[in-house]
Amino acid sequence: MVKVTFITANGARVEAKAAVGDVLLGVGQGAGMPLEGTCEGQMACSTCHVVVAREWFDRLVPASEDEEDMLDLAAGVTRTSRLSCQIELTADLDGLTVHIPGQSHDMQRR
Ligand code: FES
Repeated sequence: MVKVTFITANGARVEAKAAVGDVLLGVGQGAGMPLEGTCEGQMACSTCHVVVAREWFDRLVPASEDEEDMLDLAAGVTRTSRLSCQIELTADLDGLTVHIPGQSHDMQRR
C-alpha cells in the first residue's frame, strides 16, 4: 500500500491509498482530483500536470525530455512540476504529496 496526499487548489488535503505500480494520474482521478489526463498517458496533453512537494521531487525518477517539453506548455508550471501520468508509484513513494495546480481549470470554469 502506498499513501498519496493530494493538496487541492483550495488547500484541502485529500489522502488516497494506492498500490505499487499504480500510476499517479489514475490515483488522483480516483480520489476526485480534477486531473483530466486527456491523452491517457501519451504525453500529448499536460492536463495531468501536478506540482510535487519539494521534499518528494528528488525521490522521483527524473522526467524524460518528452515530459519536460510537454510541461513547458502546461499552465502554472513550477520547478517541481511533473506529469502525473508519468509517475509510477513504488514502495519508496509511500507518503508522496503533490499539489493540484488551480489556475488553468479555474479560468475555464468562468
Ligand atoms: Fe496527457 Fe499526462 S495524460 S500528458
